[in-house]
Amino acid sequence: MEYRWLIDHAVKAMDQAYAPYSNFKVGAALLGASGKVYLGCNIENAAYSPTNCAERTAVFKAVSEGETSFQAIAVVADTAAVITPCGVCRQVMAEFFDDQVVIILANLHGQVEETTISKLLPGAFTGDSYGL
Ligand code: THU
Repeated sequence: MEYRWLIDHAVKAMDQAYAPYSNFKVGAALLGASGKVYLGCNIENAAYSPTNCAERTAVFKAVSEGETSFQAIAVVADTAAVITPCGVCRQVMAEFFDDQVVIILANLHGQVEETTISKLLPGAFTGDSYGL
């Protein structure tokens, strides 16, 4: 697995998860085109809906620092099967990822799957719809 090291970063990112309501910690590590790694964790809220997933935290950190092109993302949680991103995160990834971006889904038991955004969100609504 070429990106085992990126999964290791995602596991470290789980430590920062703020998840007092679900106790479900998720970590993400996003590799920018520049080579920089952006870590993300889930950040929950007492009002529930403002909760931000680990994947979106990582993407928003990168974009806010000026990086909008990516090589890969690793996402990990302590799940029986590999973690699977929610629909909102798939839509956010579709904004910035093409199918060259390797999406690595993993768990703490060594299971790993590689996928792409068009597999996770076929027919995504994107800027293409505006003719961009
Ligand atoms: N969560 C993520 O951070 N990423 C996922 O891929 C799935 C769900 C978070 C949101 C919430 O804090 C907790 O996991 C339970 O849904």
